[in-house]
Amino acid sequence: MFFKKKREIEYDLDMNNIPQHIAFIMDGNGRWAKKRKMPRTYGHHEGTKTIRTLALEANRLGVKAMTVYAFSTENFKREASEVDYIFKLPKEFFQLYLKELMDNDVSIRYIGHLEMAPLETRRIIEEAVSQTSRNHGLILTFAFIYGGRDEIVEATKIICEEYKHGQISLDDINEDYFEKHLMTKDLPPVDLMVRSSGEKRLSNFLLWQLAYAEFVFDDTLWPDFDEERLHYAIAVYQGRERRFGGVVK
Ligand code: FPP
Repeated sequence: MFFKKKREIEYDLDMNNIPQHIAFIMDGNGRWAKKRKMPRTYGHHEGTKTIRTLALEANRLGVKAMTVYAFSTENFKREASEVDYIFKLPKEFFQLYLKELMDNDVSIRYIGHLEMAPLETRRIIEEAVSQTSRNHGLILTFAFIYGGRDEIVEATKIICEEYKHGQISLDDINEDYFEKHLMTKDLPPVDLMVRSSGEKRLSNFLLWQLAYAEFVFDDTLWPDFDEERLHYAIAVYQGRERRFGGVVK
């Protein structure tokens, strides 16, 4: 029997500068599976374990929110069998880990068009959200059937309706007001965005919210991404100087 040797976590993290909100583009599941001559779906299956590992570790470190890109509006272009498989993963994930997440005070949320998912998938995610709604630890948000451009269009439509019905004037519309109409309105600002697998794109993820986030692109394939890589990403974040458009001090 082989055990994966846990790598030494050697980054000296500043616990007073932990990012409040970390967003992950979970990439590389297909390549991870291909390297093992396994179907792509096996990579997605293994990728869910990484979500659990990182959520527990982020929670332990005091991160307030973690958002994972589980299914994009564009992912419908994939083969139906792969899409069906991904839609079945929430059931497996919550059957395996909901109790543990609950015991760790993690709260589950989602952003995206869950209404487009099969009924059972919807029911399972909504049940996890409801069961964990009174928890006060990490907020773990699944971006599921989510697209950043779509989110901005949806917010715009809601605001246009408010304007049309005379509830607001043009002067009421500003960045703060707009932000309150995004699907992430109850989450803290994203401080750090991590994409695994070496790809360097945003792929329509949190386009508004990432305006001032720090980006870390890591070559690790998502199923291999672990606590050590999370610590590394946070260490890189802590080494950056965030200026939000200001000048170097
Ligand atoms: C990208 O890897 C990954 C996805 C599109 C799906 C990720 C989904 C999960 C890990 C599971 C979601 C779980 C729950 C509980 C909702 P890829 O297939 O693009 O990898 P590749 O670039 O190597 O082909």
